[in-house]
Amino acid sequence: MTDPSHDRLLIIDFGSQVTQLIARRLRELNIYCEIHPYNTVTDDFLERFAPRAVIFSGGPCSVLDAGAPRPPASVFELGVPILGICYGQQVMMQMLGGQVERGDSTAEFGRAYVVPAKERIDLLNGWFLEEREQVWMSHGDHVSRIAPGFAVYATSPGAPFAITADLNRNFYAVQFHPEVHHTPNGRTLYENFVRLAGFKGDWTMAAYREEAVQKIRDQVGDSHVICGLSGGVDSSVAAVLIHEAIGDQLTCVFVDHGLLRQGESDEVVGMFRDHYNIPLIHADEADLFLGELDGVSDPETKRKIIGRLFIDVFQKHAHAIDGAEFLAQGTLYPDVIESVSFSGGPSVTIKSHHNVGGLPEKMGLKLVEPLRELFKDEVRALGRELGLPDSFIGRHPFPGPGLAIRCPGEITREKLDILRKADAVYIDQIRKHGLYDEIWQAFVAILPVRTVGVMGDSRTYDFACALRAVTSVDGMTADYYPFSHEFLGETATRIINEVRGINRVTYDITSKPPGTIEWE
Ligand code: XMP
Repeated sequence: MTDPSHDRLLIIDFGSQVTQLIARRLRELNIYCEIHPYNTVTDDFLERFAPRAVIFSGGPCSVLDAGAPRPPASVFELGVPILGICYGQQVMMQMLGGQVERGDSTAEFGRAYVVPAKERIDLLNGWFLEEREQVWMSHGDHVSRIAPGFAVYATSPGAPFAITADLNRNFYAVQFHPEVHHTPNGRTLYENFVRLAGFKGDWTMAAYREEAVQKIRDQVGDSHVICGLSGGVDSSVAAVLIHEAIGDQLTCVFVDHGLLRQGESDEVVGMFRDHYNIPLIHADEADLFLGELDGVSDPETKRKIIGRLFIDVFQKHAHAIDGAEFLAQGTLYPDVIESVSFSGGPSVTIKSHHNVGGLPEKMGLKLVEPLRELFKDEVRALGRELGLPDSFIGRHPFPGPGLAIRCPGEITREKLDILRKADAVYIDQIRKHGLYDEIWQAFVAILPVRTVGVMGDSRTYDFACALRAVTSVDGMTADYYPFSHEFLGETATRIINEVRGINRVTYDITSKPPGTIEWE
């Protein structure tokens, strides 16, 4: 839990797909909040957490089922404002004496419109400037009788109790999801809710930076911290923040596996060692990685080899640092939430992601995770606050196994060289056309086929490559970027003219699902 001097809002999670969006909306309003699964919220927890307000999320269950998720009854005795959303609304009504029914004919999914039912309340300031408001519904059951003390403030065709409130106790309940994009005025509703709960809105990045620096100093004391640097935004921001807190008690280890992009290794070393003066070990282990990957074409085997070697190399260099007691990691809030989500049963392995999860225990190190409370966009904001250049902060994600998974089939130095050059031309094109920031991720994959071409008067027999560019919000789903034909034609010509070894360029228009973003 964070610094108790901040007012905290507690989101009790009943398993909705969009619970994280509630937190996003609140953080945008400079409100500090945490999401906790309903089954971890005990009386004791509530007392320790001491929220200034509570939100009940939506969820996939029916309150009418046996064993349906519920918050502890004591939450209603805290004397703080509560907002129930969808399932949260229904569980609130049921526990406070109202009634919920299954409703085949009243189920609403998708866009709906609510209209005001009687006088305006503070929660709805800025609402109903037009006759009706668009909201996003997703419910099968519905409230058939509201709890004593509540009154109706808005209705929709399928939800006669779309917005209800008990103004004496400051309990509010809405049937729709104000956190999603398709409820355009949803942010105002959250803003009104936190305002009436008395939040100051003091969760700013500058404040976070100061507190985080102090916390790192308190945690680390005189000990030494090691931080694995990948060149990605998360580990970079973590490193700069920790360096601000403890200076040369931090050493970064940058494992260069020979699978980085053109110029990347110099950029990382230049920025951290030369610009920030952070002690940095540059472990140039390309021979080791490429040697072990020689002849390997199975994607999962590649990933496993890289993961194993990464840990070995990291450990070797870290052991050489005297007195290291802590390992810094760029863990983000979404990783933390997923790891406690009650609804996220075991999922199938699509790709084994490269991570160093087992490292701390193996090396007997304690963890420093200064980004644990932040979302990705907040990490970027913190990076800016710390003075990292925008061009660095806005970089597209790059996977841990690097170019290995953009080189289907066997990996050779020749193919990697060609791939690096083609990728550099492609990214240059995207930047020149001002498209870089519109795209979530763009890269070239070199394909394990040679094709026939003709250049000048000669026959060529060279590699084909695929360009990939996707839009996405979180990397979980993605769509291909709709480049113009002119852009694609110009880029193909440049790659073939400027990169020896490629004589055919294709554009990958697969979305995710069914494809994945990377080729392996
Ligand atoms: P896929 O290919 O699974 O990728 O659609 C989704 C996002 O994750 C990145 N990715 C990785 N990132 N280690 C990482 O740090 C990995 O092993 C890894 N594999 C995929 C990918 O670049 C995309 O942004």
